[in-house]
Amino acid sequence: MAHLRLWSSFLAVVVMLLSPLAAAQLRTGYYASICPKLEAIVRSSVKQSMAQSPIAGPAALRLFFHDCAVRGCDASIMIVNSNSDDEWRNPDDQSLKPEGFQTILAAKAAVDNDPQCRYKVSCADILALAAREAVSQSGGPYYQVELGRYDGRISTKSSVVLPHVDFNLDQLNAFFSGLGLSQTDMIALSGGHTLGAADCTFFQSRIGTDPSMDSGFATQLRSTCARQSFALLDAATPGGFDNSYFKNLQGGRGLLGSDQVLYTDQRSRGTVNYYASNQDAFFNNFTNAMTKLGRVGVKTAANGEIRRDCRTPN
Ligand code: HEM
Repeated sequence: MAHLRLWSSFLAVVVMLLSPLAAAQLRTGYYASICPKLEAIVRSSVKQSMAQSPIAGPAALRLFFHDCAVRGCDASIMIVNSNSDDEWRNPDDQSLKPEGFQTILAAKAAVDNDPQCRYKVSCADILALAAREAVSQSGGPYYQVELGRYDGRISTKSSVVLPHVDFNLDQLNAFFSGLGLSQTDMIALSGGHTLGAADCTFFQSRIGTDPSMDSGFATQLRSTCARQSFALLDAATPGGFDNSYFKNLQGGRGLLGSDQVLYTDQRSRGTVNYYASNQDAFFNNFTNAMTKLGRVGVKTAANGEIRRDCRTPN
């Protein structure tokens, strides 16, 4: 059943990608004359959100992934439908933190506060910019963000199909190739787990049973989860965006099964070792993969809109 759902979503994404309109209009200077201060406004708003909460940055980055992976990068993840049938109420999206949504809404309010920009910048583009800010303001790479996405009008629970923590390498690759992303892209993007935290329910079953988990790490996690409900995805440098995630994997200290499998499986281990030894290469490939992720299923004026309130279609 899960297999069928994966395939149907894979095919839907392929159809989206083949659409002649998809991604055609994205460019870095899209708002140069429409809203010249856009990037500075989003930068300072995200900075404020990140100062208010350590969860804001990681949650905004994850939100961008969950938006793009479902119906494309069209801010459909932000929609709140009055009949309760929307993406964020799918169980797979229930662990998205409110701080991520708040970061986007605050940035949108800041953008719309500039009379020149009001109602001219899509929520989808603000999500893409906020994700870049979350990365760069945590010490990660700064990269140019392609812009010009329109917002979607549709969000339903049933359209949500996302990778799970018990996926093996083939399942991870199948999912990401459905988005037009390679195994190398997938491994680089998984490096996003250098930020943020995961609820103990996502990895508890591995403790003491998964031979790929370092035994000292297992002991540590047992005591962490006895005290609190979550653990840091990269405990070595929790708030910093760096390549220590990959070094953790080398030592059997990957938190999620889908993290550790990238090292356990011989077919992806070489790339993990490469990123662990070369942070510049990781940063470059992460940036490229984020740009590719940002092109998935992009809407145009023909099938989208500039949403005034990110939570409701106009
Ligand atoms: C490869 C497949 C992936 C799986 C199975 C996966 C799964 C998860 C899970 C289970 C959590 C913990 C959620 C919670 O307990 O709050 C999480 C957190 C996170 N994920 Fe992923 N993820 C994947 C890929 C990605 C990608 C591609 C990105 C972005 C580039 C990303 C960014 C994040 C971030 C930043 C967090 C921390 C969020 C927070 O602290 O609120 N993940 N992921």
